Amino acid sequence: MAAVIEPGWPCPYTHPLPVASCDEGGQRGGGSRGDDGQVTDDIAAVPASGASSAADVYLGDPAVRAEWDRRYADRERLWSGQPNGALVAEVAGLTPGRVLDVGCGEGADAVWLARGGWNVTALEVSGVALERAAGHARDAGVTVHWVHAGLAAAALPPASFDLVSAQYPALLRTPDAAAERALLVAVAPGGVLLLVHHAGMDTQQGHDSSFDPADYVLPFMVAARLDDDWAVEVDEQRPRIAPDGGAGAHHTDDLVLRARRLR
Ligand SMILES: C[S@@+](CC[C@H](N)C(=O)[O-])C[C@H]1O[C@@H](n2cnc3c(N)ncnc32)[C@H](O)[C@@H]1O
Repeated sequence: MAAVIEPGWPCPYTHPLPVASCDEGGQRGGGSRGDDGQVTDDIAAVPASGASSAADVYLGDPAVRAEWDRRYADRERLWSGQPNGALVAEVAGLTPGRVLDVGCGEGADAVWLARGGWNVTALEVSGVALERAAGHARDAGVTVHWVHAGLAAAALPPASFDLVSAQYPALLRTPDAAAERALLVAVAPGGVLLLVHHAGMDTQQGHDSSFDPADYVLPFMVAARLDDDWAVEVDEQRPRIAPDGGAGAHHTDDLVLRARRLR
């Protein structure tokens, strides 16, 4: 089986649409189905220089893509290759359905979710990371829908995911709170938003001196936007179940926000 990479969101829609219906009939679950969609896993390769290519129809801020491509290109592998511990813990009680992995990086969570029967859409600004992620999915024999876009620019079908998972997402703050709103609007009624961040990032300078935590969306900003349509199931700081190795392994505590959309 091969991975499916979609540059930006290819599915035009005028109403809430089950995401899988863009190419696979819209059924729940089935992350390990065959590759009956667009098999284009060679188009995610975005040059680390940020130079454009004919195949690159990335949707989002080119500077953000270039910055993350540079970070990924600096190392053969940036993250541990293991699924995030908070994701594993929080997903344990959920029935597999349609999941959106926001800022999927090198794809460890996406592959793990697909192996668990989830119908996975994984979104990422870095083409370098996406190319690696697609390779891991191929090696694992699972299908993932890869979307090369920034979250706010992707124009995902609203209310279409049973789980929106954002694990340590590096979403830039904007005055219009576009990223926060995009996270919430993607969740289907009855679905769950799971947002996990490193604790203490709002008060400490990041490990990387080029990284200013004040620039980024933190869980409390998303929590502040939850209204009566949502039930907060988890909103806490707790010790991180850290994977072995990879950048960021020094972070010891997580902020975990888990909220269910009621209607
Ligand atoms: C700290 S990494 C976490 C990667 C992955 N979730 C993990 O836990 O291994 C943050 C990721 O967010 C991606 N990213 C940055 N801005 C983004 C945006 N606007 N939309 C989607 N992904 C973004 C980066 O390229 C990077 O892969």
